[in-house]
Amino acid sequence: MTMIPLKNKEGIARMREACAIAAAVLDSLKPLVRPGITTQDLEEAGRDLIARHGARSACYGYQHGSRRYPAHTCISVNDEVVHGIPSFRRVLRDGDIVSLDIVVWYNGYVGDNAYTMPVGTISPELEKLLRISREALDLGIRQATVGNHIGDISQAIQRHVEDAGFSVVRDMVGHGVGVAMHEPPEVANFGRKGTGPKIKPGMTLAIEPMVNLGGYKTKTLSDGWTVVSADGSPSAHFEHTVLTTEQGPEILTLPPAAQVSR
Ligand code: MF3
Ligand code: CO
Repeated sequence: MTMIPLKNKEGIARMREACAIAAAVLDSLKPLVRPGITTQDLEEAGRDLIARHGARSACYGYQHGSRRYPAHTCISVNDEVVHGIPSFRRVLRDGDIVSLDIVVWYNGYVGDNAYTMPVGTISPELEKLLRISREALDLGIRQATVGNHIGDISQAIQRHVEDAGFSVVRDMVGHGVGVAMHEPPEVANFGRKGTGPKIKPGMTLAIEPMVNLGGYKTKTLSDGWTVVSADGSPSAHFEHTVLTTEQGPEILTLPPAAQVSR
């Protein structure tokens, strides 16, 4: 098994900075979401905000096989689970849900976070999908305590989602994050308590439930990136980068207002 990198004081300080920027950019995009805007509008705003913070998008040019991701943000609408490529043809409509995924490089470290929000007024069913997915992220984070296992996070997320009648995506998982966007360990959103690596202080984990209203299966569109639910059902995605400490989990990607009040 590959070693899980533990961050020292310096690494933690840099993770804080990268994550604060990722959180600030994501937070600034939220108020732009409304019916009539295109996902390309959100991309351009995100790209400019990342630059203004002196950071770089970790998505832009990200290589997977022979392909490079062509945008600075991932914007996924309705049945799109993750890695939606922004487009000027994709207009947000009242009743849609849209997930904003922002990953930045700053000073050699990566901050990763995502949030799914309503466009205008959404159905009660979609409200519930968003609420359960957000709660599942919170419950997963709460399990990220020293001495627990990674599987404790996975089980907490899976149970909450499935108790509500939804399903967790299995084709993609959360991950360690630090000097690279993806480090060990994998943090699945399904699994069993007591399994997987033991949690130690100084781990930085991107915990990211992806929740489908229907079945858990996904497929990738011919653009090579956009992951959609196989049955076309809507999908939500919430993500925080979390630092594990002896005092418990600390969310590094809290929005700026929440950071001030801590
Ligand atoms: N948060 C996503 C992840 O952890 C970001 C992927 S960026 C992309 O995989 F370049 F792959 F789109
Ligand atoms: Co991630």
